Amino acid sequence: MLILTSAAEVTAVSKEAHRVGKRVGFVPTMGALHQGHLSLVRTALAQADVVIVSVFVNPTQFGPNEDFSKYPRNPERDTAMLAAEKTDYIFLPSTEEMYPAGAESWVTVEGLSEKLDGRSRPGHFRGVTTVVAKLFNIVHPDLAFFGQKDAAQVAIISKMVRDLNFDVHIVVCPIVREPDGLAMSSRNAYLTPEQRKQALVLHRSLMRVQHLVDRGETSTARLLVAGTQVMAEEPAVKLDYFEIVDRATLDPVSDVSSGALVAVAAYVGSTRLIDNIFVARQS
Ligand code: PAJ
Repeated sequence: MLILTSAAEVTAVSKEAHRVGKRVGFVPTMGALHQGHLSLVRTALAQADVVIVSVFVNPTQFGPNEDFSKYPRNPERDTAMLAAEKTDYIFLPSTEEMYPAGAESWVTVEGLSEKLDGRSRPGHFRGVTTVVAKLFNIVHPDLAFFGQKDAAQVAIISKMVRDLNFDVHIVVCPIVREPDGLAMSSRNAYLTPEQRKQALVLHRSLMRVQHLVDRGETSTARLLVAGTQVMAEEPAVKLDYFEIVDRATLDPVSDVSSGALVAVAAYVGSTRLIDNIFVARQS
């Protein structure tokens, strides 16, 4: 495995892979890697010939009062984990490499970026789409791998790829969970043991909705009442949103029969966690 820090080196590696007919797979991350990230890497290794993983804590996707400075950073551990998976290349750019002084251009997916997490994190998705667009231009991947864990991010990146004609296929990978159901996240490291238990309410609320759908309920209004009731059982957890939306437009739907994304975000202490499931009427 090779560690690359310059964008030019990464572009050269990708060009050479394409010259000899290889497919380049790309997994963008912010590091503090866990099994969720590694599931993306393994899928990439299975589907592509050369795999590049980027580890970059992107400052532009954090709000002024968010956790950019305390976001967990452990490049040595990340590197060892990726080497153990037999990843081909890690791209570990500095902030100056990604955002040279004077950079003033942004990529924004209008509309979608103000929904779900975008509503409570203004500017977040502009930072995500800008850095992912830059990374796509550096890496030139044939395939790029994203986790369903960040469902709004998947919708927004997919829209960006379509709207701006990026020549890349987006592969969406399922959510990897802890044995008790908590969705894996780098931010779980912030939780105290007590908060770790309280955090399970997000998954529990989604499982309640899943259970009702399995029993034939399709009304979003009733499913929302049931889901938010479960969230209220844990008063230490402050709900940000509980929504049932179309997975592509992120607009609310009134009925889940033809499939819907059930998404929740909540603060456990000062840690913001998200989770989601996709539900559809059983045939
Ligand atoms: P990060 O939070 O590090 O996540 C990197 C990728 O791993 C994302 O596609 C995310 O959805 C996926 N992922 C995280 N937890 C997961 C889980 N439990 N199961 C499955 N996949 C999971 O998302 C970002 O970084 C950034 O916004 C980024 C795209 C790198 C742009 O900076």
